[in-house]
Amino acid sequence: MIKKLNEKLKNCQLCNLCENRNQVVFGHGNLKAKIVFIGEAPGREEDEKGIPFVGRSGKLLTDAIESAGFKREDFYITNINKCRPPDNRTPKKDEIEKCLVFLKEEINIINPEIICLVGATPAKAFLGNKIKMNEIRGKIIEKGSKKFYVVFHPAYVLRGMKTRKSIFYEDINNLLNYI
Ligand code: URA
Repeated sequence: MIKKLNEKLKNCQLCNLCENRNQVVFGHGNLKAKIVFIGEAPGREEDEKGIPFVGRSGKLLTDAIESAGFKREDFYITNINKCRPPDNRTPKKDEIEKCLVFLKEEINIINPEIICLVGATPAKAFLGNKIKMNEIRGKIIEKGSKKFYVVFHPAYVLRGMKTRKSIFYEDINNLLNYI
């Protein structure tokens, strides 16, 4: 089923992000994962390698997962947008809306117990524009039939002080070990 979805995505031209991409970056990892991580969009390294979260941010996410005693291959990792935005800008509303249709299909195929929203862009896309990251991170949020868990975006963590990093690691550890 995921193959069919990726086949549809491969040549997608529904939004302008198709113009600058090297390739569409599909979700990656364990198709039976109980937790799916959803980031914003591929960056330069992801666009080159065709795998989500393999650049600097990805290394931090991978490190936090490993520090909690797991491997990134235990989970399924994807993005809202599957094509790299120019200069890594935040994807626009219409770009998000178009790609969300595919992402929802992807989530239905994997059918995880928890959807981990990595950063404000996916958190807003699923939980609404009014969310405040500091208030909702690190908690299970039930919406409809789905359970969400929000963590800071690793790029935000990398830009900040040590406390941001320890919150990020603790949130990932709590998600993977206690929930
Ligand atoms: N890499 C990704 O694949 N997604 C992000 O949101 C950031 C970096």
